Amino acid sequence: MEQHTGRFIAFEGIDGSGKSTQLVMLKQQLEAAGYKVYNTFEPTDNQIGSLIRDILKGKQSADQLTIAALFAADRLHHILNAEDGLLKKLQEGFIVLCDRYYFSSYAYHSVYVDMDWVIEINKKSAELLQPALNVFIDVDPETAMQRIQQNRVDTELYETLDMQQKVYMNYQRAFDKLNHQEHICKVPGHLSLADTATEILAVVKTVL
Ligand code: ADP
Ligand code: TYD
Repeated sequence: MEQHTGRFIAFEGIDGSGKSTQLVMLKQQLEAAGYKVYNTFEPTDNQIGSLIRDILKGKQSADQLTIAALFAADRLHHILNAEDGLLKKLQEGFIVLCDRYYFSSYAYHSVYVDMDWVIEINKKSAELLQPALNVFIDVDPETAMQRIQQNRVDTELYETLDMQQKVYMNYQRAFDKLNHQEHICKVPGHLSLADTATEILAVVKTVL
């Protein structure tokens, strides 16, 4: 793994679990405490990430193996690109908060393809940059779907209850499988925004 001075923390959960909302709040709290914080997300808004979003919206089509491989490529570009890549930000001393990372790939793509293969094609990412902590925001699929339906005009490819249930189960399967080599922490996500934020801050502080 590359040497750097920052801290890389990945946030995981099914769609509608509250990741994006919590990451904005966490950044504010950490900055108020004097930390340099950089928030980012996957799929990225770079070239490969944009192609992925078109596929998720149904504007272009691709088979599931290709989609999984595109996410792996997007992740490598996210880590390595010289402009605003994760390693660069970490070398600059930022705490990097990432909305989804390789556990998302394990949980989503293994609905369609073998999880071990998904882990395999993400090995280089795990080698280059392993999160100091993977925070799983734990919300049941029904609650998450209600939140999505209340708040969005259009839903994406993966946003059905059946899919959310499968993804939720796959997250648990991936955590069990990799428990010995990854730092994973589950946080309850059905609480109020403020209470969830307090729980997240407490676990994040343990790795700062
Ligand atoms: P994600 O990034 O995990 O998909 P979001 O942060 O976009 O989730 O949250 C999905 C929706 O649920 C948003 O409209 C958000 O305002 C709402 N939401 C997030 N956290 C909570 C919470 N703790 N209680 C109620 N609603 C929430
Ligand atoms: P995202 O924009 O984070 O959606 P949301 O804000 O609703 O959580 O991610 C878009 C979709 O991409 C989401 O359904 C999860 C999926 N995804 C994968 O299938 N594989 C991956 O490796 C990643 C990072 C995301």
